[in-house]
Amino acid sequence: MSETEARMSAVDVPCDIRDPELASKGALRTEWAGRHMPVLRLIGDRFERERPLDGVRISACLHVTTETANLMLALQRGGADVCLCASNPLSTQDDVAAYLVSRGIQVHAIKGEDHETYYRHIRSALEHRPQITMDDGADLVSAIHFMALERYDDLHPVIRDWATELDPAERKSLVDGVTASTEETTTGVIRLKAMENSGVLLFPVIAVNDSKTKHFFDNRYGTGQSTIDGILRATNILLAGSTVVVAGYGWCGKGVALRAQGQGASVIVTEIDPLRALEAVMDGFRVMPMTEAATIGDVFITVTGDTHVIRGEHFKVMKDGAVVANSGHFNVEIDLDALAEIANETREIREYVMEYSLDDRKVYVLGEGRLINLAAAEGHPASVMDMSFANQSLAAEHVVKNAGELEKRVEPVPIDIDAEIARLKLQALGVQLDELTPEQREYLDSWEIGT
Ligand code: ADE
Repeated sequence: MSETEARMSAVDVPCDIRDPELASKGALRTEWAGRHMPVLRLIGDRFERERPLDGVRISACLHVTTETANLMLALQRGGADVCLCASNPLSTQDDVAAYLVSRGIQVHAIKGEDHETYYRHIRSALEHRPQITMDDGADLVSAIHFMALERYDDLHPVIRDWATELDPAERKSLVDGVTASTEETTTGVIRLKAMENSGVLLFPVIAVNDSKTKHFFDNRYGTGQSTIDGILRATNILLAGSTVVVAGYGWCGKGVALRAQGQGASVIVTEIDPLRALEAVMDGFRVMPMTEAATIGDVFITVTGDTHVIRGEHFKVMKDGAVVANSGHFNVEIDLDALAEIANETREIREYVMEYSLDDRKVYVLGEGRLINLAAAEGHPASVMDMSFANQSLAAEHVVKNAGELEKRVEPVPIDIDAEIARLKLQALGVQLDELTPEQREYLDSWEIGT
């Protein structure tokens, strides 16, 4: 019997969660989020009638939040057999995990879990033998690929030991059983496109992040609001009058810069891309290299998706009291090892706030350099996750409907699904559009009419 099977909840669902007693709190919070997810609710209602995912095993590696709970329940209403593990050790909401288990959904996630437990939970999601995987950061898909390519040394030992002990036929059937995947985030899509480009991608992947109804809203307004929320909950500092340095001016960086400015901060952007840097300048922000910004900033927020954006050389010139946070997917953007090397002492001065004492100054790192919006706050508000998870649920339906037809490529959600989600969201918000008059349509369709 595996460890997973050994731990069953009161309702006989394999799980590894903090405390089943938290389920009633999770139920109320999930219901509250659901009120702000009208598009997902409509999809769930239709799924319950049509059962498009009947019997399909889905393993999801997502942030375990109230919004994700609503997605899991919608998939379950569609007939799916769902298993959920965390896509970040700090983002799990333990009451939500308990609630989902009480609703018969397997959950393997505990807030604050260590590295080994994190990977043991990913292993449990693999043991579910998914036909579809749903990733936020491509951890499930990359583990499956390392198994398929027999690159066991690239797997965490708890997955490696299990995978190598599997009967080879069983291992092959597990890998071959995955028919498609969906990916939630920019970082994951970049990893998956790299797999496609190296010719190793084993199955079709739907890049949910590439939907307009996802990244225009979730990345910009979701990350913008929830990152500021996380920093304020962790520190309770005043942003008005402070200098906030935003590293990266992609969709997430744009949202963070906008919201920091809205709180009265003077915002500096750092970039490596000329076009984005130009956009930041014309949006009214100062743009300069990090070496220069490091000497000026009060608060630093990384949202680049790349590694070691804030390094030893930057920490050495920061002002006393500088606060450093990350809202990019992985905890690699802030070089914490370099900071630890120059620090004489560290102490947790507040929950989520680690003080590093340098010779003559102190620097504060929030949430261990992990996604601050999910570590210290609750992630993006439900109203934007409504569109992101409408994309996820319809992407799952799309891959089931088109099984065997899709190429082994990273593809966006079909454009008509993206447009339909926008239409439904507007309808839910009570916003009406104009329609083209026949004269206007003719004008747009013709090339002869010039004046
Ligand atoms: N990613 C960012 N915010 C999130 C949320 N509230 N739920 C799930 N994933 C998220």
